[in-house]
Amino acid sequence: MSEERKAWWKEAVVYQIYPRSFADSNGDGIGDLNGITAHLDYLKELGVDVIWVSPIYASPNHDNGYDISDYRAIMKEFGTMADFDRMLSEIHARGMKLVMDLVANHSSNEHQWFVESRKGRDNPYRDYYIWRDGVNGGPPNNWGSCFSGSAWEYDEASAQYYLHLFTKEQPDLNWANPKVRQSIFEMMRWWCDKGIDGFRMDVIGMIGKENFDDGPVAPGALYGDFSPSCMHTEATHRYLREMRQEVLNRYDLLTVGETSGTTENALRYENEDQSELNMVFAFEHNDGLNDGTELAKWSDHGAPLNDVRSTLNRWQLALQGKAWNTVYLGNHDQPRQVSRYGCDSELFRVKSAKMLATLIHTLRGTPYVYQGEELGMTNIYFTDISQYQDVENHNAWKQWVESGRVDAQDMLRYFARISRDNARTPMQWNTQPNAGFTTGTPWLPVNKNYLLINAEDQMKDPDSVYRYYQKLIALRHAHPVIVYGRFVPLLEDDPNVWAYQRVYAGKTLTVALNWTGRKAPCTLMDETAGQELISNYPTHQKGWLQPYEAIVKLS
Ligand code: GLC
Ligand code: CA
Repeated sequence: MSEERKAWWKEAVVYQIYPRSFADSNGDGIGDLNGITAHLDYLKELGVDVIWVSPIYASPNHDNGYDISDYRAIMKEFGTMADFDRMLSEIHARGMKLVMDLVANHSSNEHQWFVESRKGRDNPYRDYYIWRDGVNGGPPNNWGSCFSGSAWEYDEASAQYYLHLFTKEQPDLNWANPKVRQSIFEMMRWWCDKGIDGFRMDVIGMIGKENFDDGPVAPGALYGDFSPSCMHTEATHRYLREMRQEVLNRYDLLTVGETSGTTENALRYENEDQSELNMVFAFEHNDGLNDGTELAKWSDHGAPLNDVRSTLNRWQLALQGKAWNTVYLGNHDQPRQVSRYGCDSELFRVKSAKMLATLIHTLRGTPYVYQGEELGMTNIYFTDISQYQDVENHNAWKQWVESGRVDAQDMLRYFARISRDNARTPMQWNTQPNAGFTTGTPWLPVNKNYLLINAEDQMKDPDSVYRYYQKLIALRHAHPVIVYGRFVPLLEDDPNVWAYQRVYAGKTLTVALNWTGRKAPCTLMDETAGQELISNYPTHQKGWLQPYEAIVKLS
């Protein structure tokens, strides 16, 4: 097998900041850019190389910044362009890089382009969005939006519908219009010229709409699936290749697409010929974990080892030698990883958070750490719909509960397990009121466990989750086998243990992870020679892995 091509973004660890919940510098309860700048030393000490910030552009916040009303302005709650420039130069001064969120499948309905587009069929911006006539007194087709309801919104004034694959405040841009593409590319170059180091591309796999045919309707579903017409189309690949020519090739960037889909889909976006993107986020291990019913993600489905391991092992092998993986379990759209994949009870929280960290940092690919994950932050487990802020929850509540289709208690249980708000509660900095996140009232409540789980305490404790992340990140920087090693799965049928090797330049890294809260019989590590690089237990038991035990050896 040919040797991996070297690249800085393969060697890097990325840290994702959700700015609204990271650090509030002015007491209005909302995190902001100056809050980020004030905590850069914390990130530097953790050792991360790249910071990805979720959207910080002007936005009416129907979807917390994923609805952009001006791509070249900073959201007023987050600060000013001068604050941004200072943040960027402070990041660079510490030898770190900044990746911005590019949300260009759709804009806000308050973006000037849409304000114009909506003015009427003859407006020069009409074709910046996707307008269609209705059919038989209803919407143009049967597509449902990702956030419940129809994907079409009727506009009285012009008697046409516009497409929104997310909320109705997020109209889809019409990438088939060359002017739209040029406007987006120009905006991207404007940010690159400011000195940013890359883009995380929001739902980029949906930009090319191939046709507007009705989609298949899953049993019990209320709407059709737009995927066959909108996901991973030839048009999308054409637009990305054009973006590569017009923007990406002119700078040295990290590019990561949020695409979902299969390994075959991924291989087309991130081929080693560098014609599209550096890497994409796989969704199968996260969003694939539902019951496959009409309710999709709203279910009681857990995360058994077999499902997660077989999926991620398959992604590792499929991309090996051909493309680069991302490795992540949590982000702002997923619940807290320790609550979902590990165990957030007092007994096992720290152990399982470290075990999951070991996985993320030793699989092949660029690891992405979501803010607070390095502390082992947990789900908040709201119990009432009024506690949720996320539009996804409120729309689903209307569609399923208010219509009498799903029992309220069942839905609240699903939300508590999987809601995005679990990951969006404020960062837990210290033991001061509101965990030191704000001196005001936080926009979303702070998790009450902050007295137990916070950055300040963990930085003092050599055995903390934070210190464990720090060590893992340092190991990646010290051992090329962790970055470039070939992935070899081991013990693939073991009911408890996830094990694998990474092989590179005469070195072998062996990893064994007990995915369960029980002692698991396992002799792999007894039989493996070499130096122990890291473990979440001070001592080991011959013939066994202890609950959530993780061991990494180098030989
Ligand atoms: C992506 C974002 C998510 C957002 C959606 C619409 O999935 O990660 O937060 O709601 O796109 O922009
Ligand atoms: Ca603020």
